[in-house]
Amino acid sequence: MTNTTIAHLKDFVGQEVSIRGWLYHRRSKGKIHFLLVRDGTGLVQGVMSRADVPEEVFALCDTLPQESSLTVTGTVREDARAPGGVELSIRGVTLHQAAEPYPIAIQDDTPGVDFLMERRHLWLRSRRPHAILRVRSEVEKALRDFFDEREFTLVDAPIFTPAACEGTTTLFETQYFDDKAYLTQSGQLYMEAAAMAFGKVYCLGPTFRAERSKTRRHLTEFWMLEPEMAYAGLEDVMRLAEEMLVYVVGRALRKRAGELKTLGRDVSKLETVKAPFPRISYDDAVALMNREGHPFQWGGDFGAPDETFLASRHDRPLMVHRYPAAVKAFYMKPDPENPKLALGVDVLAPEGYGEIIGGGERSTDLAMLERKIEEHKLPKAAFEWYLDLRRHGNVPHAGFGLGIERLTAWITGTEHVRECIPFPRTIYRIYP
Ligand code: 4AD
Ligand code: MG
Repeated sequence: MTNTTIAHLKDFVGQEVSIRGWLYHRRSKGKIHFLLVRDGTGLVQGVMSRADVPEEVFALCDTLPQESSLTVTGTVREDARAPGGVELSIRGVTLHQAAEPYPIAIQDDTPGVDFLMERRHLWLRSRRPHAILRVRSEVEKALRDFFDEREFTLVDAPIFTPAACEGTTTLFETQYFDDKAYLTQSGQLYMEAAAMAFGKVYCLGPTFRAERSKTRRHLTEFWMLEPEMAYAGLEDVMRLAEEMLVYVVGRALRKRAGELKTLGRDVSKLETVKAPFPRISYDDAVALMNREGHPFQWGGDFGAPDETFLASRHDRPLMVHRYPAAVKAFYMKPDPENPKLALGVDVLAPEGYGEIIGGGERSTDLAMLERKIEEHKLPKAAFEWYLDLRRHGNVPHAGFGLGIERLTAWITGTEHVRECIPFPRTIYRIYP
């Protein structure tokens, strides 16, 4: 007898196999039980006729609760109407555990997101979260492949840090023996060091921000992918971001078509994600908003409604570059043509998903960085190592940060980023 998984059943048509999984749903019609079984790789319907199995096995399945764990043995039959194209004619069932009554009913994916999030450890088994997280997994794999294929070196950034990268207002402070440390907000500063050692680098890891914002785009713990390149500028970063997004979206469409279908994602909205992406300067974006009945005051950072307004005019991500330096981080290089502007770029996803990438060219001016660190009231001692990078082989360099959950939300068409991470952390949630 072959043990296999539901995803591979179609390779075993006409053969007897065993699958090990959980009971997702059960219904009965006279002398037949229909057992919908899941094993993490998919769902299959098993058909059990009273005549085919011992009496006690049939009786057992009269009452078996959802999420009972079991091994099901049976013959694989082709069935064009079935989800994976196959069905199982059940010959035997071995029960591992008859589960207690399950708190999440199968058809019911909408008992309120708080109810479900409180049971996130179980909710992961349901079709929708399962599909979203399968897409997320492919997204991370595609990103790694993209950068590895282009000869970037993966350099993991630390999580305990002595200093802020993205402003002091969202720092999580923690005791570090006799000292204080902060959970990292971004691996960027470390990637800048790594770029001087390896040329082209990236990191992919968790980052933390004490965000009090209760929006559909904010988590307190999220994963970021951050490439950094030596001898590169804003233009290189924009080209890289564009090429990367086309690659990742294409991969998700190809490899996770089933999951996107389960989620009801309109994939025609992703099929248009091709180079080149539209680009607009912050100045022009502000002028456009004011011209088109969406008033906006020059100088501020864009909020979610502004990003939605700008990005929903396009069928692919929009790159907005050269923001006012005053609203951006201390490390950004000023635009030589207008030092009030920073050589930064935000990539805004269409359909209201907003900023998925932030990045740009880094300042190489040691004196300016020292001044900015002071202006931002950052502790200079904690940045000495960073300033060293400008003292020893200083070169133009640039990079960006991509939020994994925001990218996954856009690709899967999920309203809120909290559903795009296995165990979300938000201002109101640290359980389970
Ligand atoms: O724009 P941000 O703050 O940029 C940086 O951190 C740079 N140091 C990155 C770099 O250049 N290496 O964050 C980058 C991205 C955002 O565009 C967004 O996708 C995501 O990280 N992000 C969040 N995602 C979920 N919840 C939050 N609170 C997020 N804050 C940022
Ligand atoms: Mg940003």
